[in-house]
Amino acid sequence: MDLTFNKVAGAVLATGLALVGLRELANGVFAVHEVEKPGYAIAVAEETEGGAAAELPPDWGTVLPAADVAAGQAVFAKCTSCHVVAAGAPHGTGPNLYGVVGRKPGGAPGFAFSPAFADYAGQHPVWTWEELDAFLKAPQKHIPGTKMTFVGLKKQEDRINMLAYLAQQGGTLAVPPPNPAAAAAPAAEGEAAAAAEGAAPAEGGAAAPAAEGAAAPAAGEAPAAGAAAPKAAAPAGAH
Ligand code: HEC
Repeated sequence: MDLTFNKVAGAVLATGLALVGLRELANGVFAVHEVEKPGYAIAVAEETEGGAAAELPPDWGTVLPAADVAAGQAVFAKCTSCHVVAAGAPHGTGPNLYGVVGRKPGGAPGFAFSPAFADYAGQHPVWTWEELDAFLKAPQKHIPGTKMTFVGLKKQEDRINMLAYLAQQGGTLAVPPPNPAAAAAPAAEGEAAAAAEGAAPAEGGAAAPAAEGAAAPAAGEAPAAGAAAPKAAAPAGAH
């Protein structure tokens, strides 16, 4: 009897060991493949991830339509301890973020924002892509005194995906037309112009003149955002 028990126990143990061994082996095999190429969805993000020094502001008209909204929703898990995004849902520690993209900062009705936020809203009447990006990157740095005690989203790719996701939650901010020249400005001017021509879509004829003025990077972006196009172009349209 004892012997039978020992045999069974031995068999169970052996099977377990074999499984563990297989898993280790599999992990080893897959780990090798994993590091081969990190899958960045966005080329621009890949560039800036690599070059540690200066992080260029993304060309929103280019990166937003290509953003991974599902990935943005996944990153939002970092925010749900304080925020909800469902229309009409009650505020948590942080305000309900439904409709925040394109709204007045601190404009969530019924939430007691910090005085720092009120000051900030006085200078920035609308949440733009640039301002939201900078805020999410380092909340405390961008709005000193904010009561959003969150360290920030350090990866540009995460912020882009996050904003694409938030924009779909009642956002009202238009996506500007692509203007690759603005993002490529630091490159040789000829190259930037060439890139703009190559990348600009048919209707992007408007982007070409901007490319000539590649010397003025961010400046070109603001008017473009103003002139921006039909709301249908924004992810906001799609719920
Ligand atoms: C620890 C809680 C906390 C976490 C985590 C947090 N927030 Fe916040 N958030 C707040 C608070 C509190 C405010 C209001 C800030 C103030 O009044 O100074 C705020 C404000 C904001 C605003 C401005 C809202 C408006 O109406 O103008 C945005 C946008 C925002 N948070 C986005 C995020 C995102 C995206 C994440 C996740 C990546 C996140 N927050 C994570 C607490 C948090």
